[in-house]
Amino acid sequence: MSDKIVITAALPYANGDIHIGHLLEYIQTDIFVRFQKLIGKDALYICASDMHGTPIEINAKKVGVSPEKFVEKYWKEHQKDFASFLINFDNFHKTHSTENKELAIYFFNELKKKGHIYQKKIPVIYCEHDQRSLPDRLVRGTCPHCKTVDQYGDICENCNSALKGLDLIDPRCIMCGNSPVEKESEHYFFKLGSFSNKLKKWIKSANIQPEIKNWLDGWLKKGLDDWCISRDAPYFGFEIPDAKKETGEKKYFYVWLDAPIGYISSTKNYCDKKKIDWKDYWYKGKSYHIIGKDIVYFHFLFWPAMLLGVGIPLPDLTVHGFITVDGQKMSKSRGTFFTAKEFLKLFPAEALRFYYASHLDRKVVDVDLQFTDFQAVNNNVLTGNLGNFCYRVLTFAEKNYGKITKVADESNKDKLFSEIKTSYEQLDFKTAVKNILAIADLGNAYFQKAEPWKNNEEAEAAVGWCVNLAKNLAIVVSPILPEFSEKVFKALSLKKTGWDDLDFKWKGKLKKVEKLVEKIEKIPEEEQFPLQMMVGEIVEVKDHPNADSLYLLNVDFGNVKKQVVAGLKKYKKPEELLKQKAVFCVNLKPAKLRGEKSEAMILVADDEKDVALLQHAKAKKGDEVKFGELVNSSKEITFDDFLKLKMVVKKGKIVYDGKVLNVHKHEISVSGVKEGSRVR
Ligand code: 2FM
Ligand code: ZN
Repeated sequence: MSDKIVITAALPYANGDIHIGHLLEYIQTDIFVRFQKLIGKDALYICASDMHGTPIEINAKKVGVSPEKFVEKYWKEHQKDFASFLINFDNFHKTHSTENKELAIYFFNELKKKGHIYQKKIPVIYCEHDQRSLPDRLVRGTCPHCKTVDQYGDICENCNSALKGLDLIDPRCIMCGNSPVEKESEHYFFKLGSFSNKLKKWIKSANIQPEIKNWLDGWLKKGLDDWCISRDAPYFGFEIPDAKKETGEKKYFYVWLDAPIGYISSTKNYCDKKKIDWKDYWYKGKSYHIIGKDIVYFHFLFWPAMLLGVGIPLPDLTVHGFITVDGQKMSKSRGTFFTAKEFLKLFPAEALRFYYASHLDRKVVDVDLQFTDFQAVNNNVLTGNLGNFCYRVLTFAEKNYGKITKVADESNKDKLFSEIKTSYEQLDFKTAVKNILAIADLGNAYFQKAEPWKNNEEAEAAVGWCVNLAKNLAIVVSPILPEFSEKVFKALSLKKTGWDDLDFKWKGKLKKVEKLVEKIEKIPEEEQFPLQMMVGEIVEVKDHPNADSLYLLNVDFGNVKKQVVAGLKKYKKPEELLKQKAVFCVNLKPAKLRGEKSEAMILVADDEKDVALLQHAKAKKGDEVKFGELVNSSKEITFDDFLKLKMVVKKGKIVYDGKVLNVHKHEISVSGVKEGSRVR
């Protein structure tokens, strides 16, 4: 086998910003590619924008541009984002390209010729008003299983049942709202089932993660359904040649048919530019795909079957889990969703690369980005251990000697370095990092013990050894921290370095080393709502002894009762309040109002003529009440600060900063007060 390898990450849809979830995969792949290059392989990092399909077509329409223009914008934007995280593609092409069109048609024709593709009439949903078939995302209706209304045609958000648009009760076209009709349409199917045996054989012998093998065994046991690879017009994709003749209508390749072919067409695009042959990589070399756990079916069944069909050797695949932030799914409303750009405004790119590397070990587990941990890893481990050793040694050597002429003859570290190599080869970056840090520890201890600042006789040789160790560390960590390593090499005037340069032979002049790493001073705090809001039941209503307009309420919050002074006399009779469950603010600074203590405050919507209590039939005493998913603060708040909060009535709901007041996700409604009323 040749040394030529192609390594890919999944092709990102040109349909939205790159975020830190995406970055896990592109960084993981980048580290692997940089490592392969470091050990001398002719490795290519190949990627492209995934540009076809219904969501892109719809989103382009929404913003009023052509799909071509829409995807072009993201194609450019994504490359900038990736580059800013030092993700170094050899080629980032497009699936909407001539190379990809040609190859998609080649695959289709080859598979058809060999009898792997057939035509079949199937029922589809058709909107007569918009004159188009409706893919699942374009129909909404009631879930036939749990009867939840307003669900998309592919999955019910409530009971998670997989649906077909046709299953929905009372389906509606999401564009015009009309009820669609059922129609027949002839489509192309790929005989996935006839590849079962070959796939089974491959799965048995391939280097596949055990978790994934289990999934695959399960699917294969159930039997593989044939796969519909065409879509009706209008569709943003490649038109299928001869479809009009064969089916009577134009048809397009389903996005998932031409997307993985993009791996090859992007390689071809690169090779054509370089005047080399892409087949040397795909037929004679080796291909690696790194993907997320959500697209396993496509990459381990459909794609290998297509490759088997046309006779291209099968890839080696690695699957990673998702990113969670502080233990939970990333969420915009919780403030834990970061685009690449947002993240880079807060932290250095290499801090994230190092953090991800320290967590990735080729297990299909989610990686949790915990901000306090992220800060600690960056400041104590990356900066405190590795960064500190290299910086300290290089600075000391440059200042005190200016050049290295002697290197102490210490025991060999070859074994440690070869372990790191094995870890990288197995995509076990976690262990690679652990071993790199262990070496830096050794170095720190050695430097400390040598006490070169005492100017003893052996000092220069000892420092010389440390400088060489710093060089070696920079080499082995370079796949993870390319900029860090570059700065070390610059101090040693080293240009191209590879794994073969791991030795203790470096001597020469030193330049002043630049700062290698940045400490992280501040991490984002979870956004909090300053009030603590809770449901309480009014169990007693009395007149305030000293004030005509005030009541004294006794309110039960489940495990505590509190006295609340309320200025509601003008609006409500005692019997209208008694036994009512309403929303209270319970972290207001306790106050005495006309001689009576008030330990909480009732929240009401108020238009100066009428007031409405904040209530929901499902609310129970002690229930927490929130705006969206905003966490309530438990810190005490003053009345002045309370008055600054803008909580308003919008369409019968209470809204703060675009988020709706709810108790256990049941939104609270009010009536009898004007739109725009404030809550006080
Ligand atoms: O899931 C996704 O984001 C797809 N765009 C991945 C495609 S990978 C390959 F098949 F092109
Ligand atoms: Zn319609």
